[in-house]
Amino acid sequence: MLLKRKNQVKIDPEPIYKGAEANLYHENNKLIKHRVRKKYRIPELDKKLRRRRTKREAKLLDDARRAGIKVPKVYETRRDECKILMEFIDGEPLRDIIIESGEKETGKIAGKIGKIIAVLHESDLIHNDLTTSNMLLYKDEIYMIDFGLGVMSKRLEDKAMDMVVLKKSLRAMYPVKFEVIWEGICAGYRNYDNYLEIFKRIETIEKRARYL
Ligand SMILES: Nc1ncnc2c1ncn2[C@@H]1O[C@H](COP(=O)(O)OP(=O)(O)O)[C@@H](O)[C@H]1O
Ligand SMILES: [Mg+2]
Repeated sequence: MLLKRKNQVKIDPEPIYKGAEANLYHENNKLIKHRVRKKYRIPELDKKLRRRRTKREAKLLDDARRAGIKVPKVYETRRDECKILMEFIDGEPLRDIIIESGEKETGKIAGKIGKIIAVLHESDLIHNDLTTSNMLLYKDEIYMIDFGLGVMSKRLEDKAMDMVVLKKSLRAMYPVKFEVIWEGICAGYRNYDNYLEIFKRIETIEKRARYL
């Protein structure tokens, strides 16, 4: 049984992760994502931005869960404190797992990633920061995290951009295995009805980028 002690001095624990935007704490089997103040931003704007991203992330985590995607459960959102209390996923980032995996295993994982993005896009959920650092493997399931930049959108352009961002980060992260990974992702993504249009749009965006 837990005894509640009065006047207990609360010591701030060390974050388990310090990101560009947020500090993350592991407390009582919960994960607390706290978006911290950025001194280089104008204070009012900074607060607005942090509150907005906190709200957006909590909402999109819920939306993704309803769409059938594995994501941490949101327990509580403290918008004014810019904190989200969510389920702690005791997994490993896919980033590292892919580094350690052989070609066959890598292709299999990539296929699963593609299927997940297909479900997200089918539900008009755009993540906007798809990288293997924002995917955790836990009990053989891939969990998606870090929806703070996400939006709801039906636009092909937004979905294609989501894929272009992922493609770019994969090319940089896994220069040798890139082809295997991308092929696997595209195979999984074919579960999305509009995949052909998206693939075409990805090409257009890439051509445009080369031209510029
Ligand atoms: N719910 C969670 N359970 C376990 N670890 C998490 C959870 N959310 C985030 N993390 C860990 O913290 C890291 C940073 O979290 P993330 O939400 O991606 O923040 P940032 O916006 O700073 O990238 C992740 O890469 C992951 O290792
Ligand atoms: Mg992240």
